[in-house]
Amino acid sequence: MKSKILALLRERGDYVSGQELCERFQVSRTAVWKAVGQLKKEGYHIEAVQNRGYLLAEEKELYGQYELESRMNTKWAGHPVIYYDSLTSTNLQAKLDAEKGAAEGTLIVADMQTAGRGRKGRAWSSPAGANIYFTLILKPRFAVELASMVTLVMGLAVAEGIRESCSAQTWIKWPNDIVVNGKKICGMLAEMSVEKEYIHYIVMGVGINVEKQAFPPEVAAVAGTLQEECGEKLSRASLLAGVIRAFESCYEAFLQADSFAPLVERYNALLVNKDREVRVLDPKGEYQGIARGINETGELLVELCDGTVTPVYAGEVSVRGLYGYV
Ligand code: BTN
Repeated sequence: MKSKILALLRERGDYVSGQELCERFQVSRTAVWKAVGQLKKEGYHIEAVQNRGYLLAEEKELYGQYELESRMNTKWAGHPVIYYDSLTSTNLQAKLDAEKGAAEGTLIVADMQTAGRGRKGRAWSSPAGANIYFTLILKPRFAVELASMVTLVMGLAVAEGIRESCSAQTWIKWPNDIVVNGKKICGMLAEMSVEKEYIHYIVMGVGINVEKQAFPPEVAAVAGTLQEECGEKLSRASLLAGVIRAFESCYEAFLQADSFAPLVERYNALLVNKDREVRVLDPKGEYQGIARGINETGELLVELCDGTVTPVYAGEVSVRGLYGYV
């Protein structure tokens, strides 16, 4: 109920009477008063004025269970939200929860990670109070071949969700890094439990760099933050809610078609390398070409100098711009 009160006060932006809150949530005046008291303890500045009611006076960036719940206006994605001040890794926690039967849509969020994990066994810098670290639990019934496309769906959702929540011009670097002004501001790590073609679960982990910070030397040249790149003060909770909303909508389109086809055009419109020269770092040998976009199975179509177009499968292969990361 605390999150619902918070959501209503925020939406109204004016006083809401105690009577209205009681009727809306079917609880006593004492219950409302207690809930408001707990929100105040959490740091919310709620004014209570006789004969007028309650007013959410100022909204400083608060990031926690109630803030996230109160902003999660989705059907299933992000329900429930489970927030931690600190975790080793949200992916690790999500896997434990998924094993124990956590429902599809469960969202694990942490303010910091002590062992944040990136792709290819790398670490993911995860300081407190600055960034978004979350993992969404999915329990799809589709064929295992479609699983690798879920990261493309999330890539599109993050790029579009951020664009809707702030002024940042986000782009996708195939397959699913998100870049702003050529800097990587987001990475994703999907992990899956499968048995005999049956997907038990997919945990979709996402890290978004929000506030200005010092990065470890090995990523400093490539990594950036949303705030530095778009110059705005941002709310992590509102960004995260925007991303989850975008994901729910993209994922439903993907499920309905049983394919990435309905999203290909939108993905390609945000592909940072589209129609640019790229270097394909294939373990069998590096080559160059022009990236023409992805196909319906998520392969990057690279046009070679003889005009032939070769599909590149993400797996072991990375793509770079001719002169750097993009
Ligand atoms: C990458 O290397 O680009 C992927 C980074 C993925 C980081 C996120 S942060 C939330 C989730 N928990 C983790 O330990 N990793 C992912």
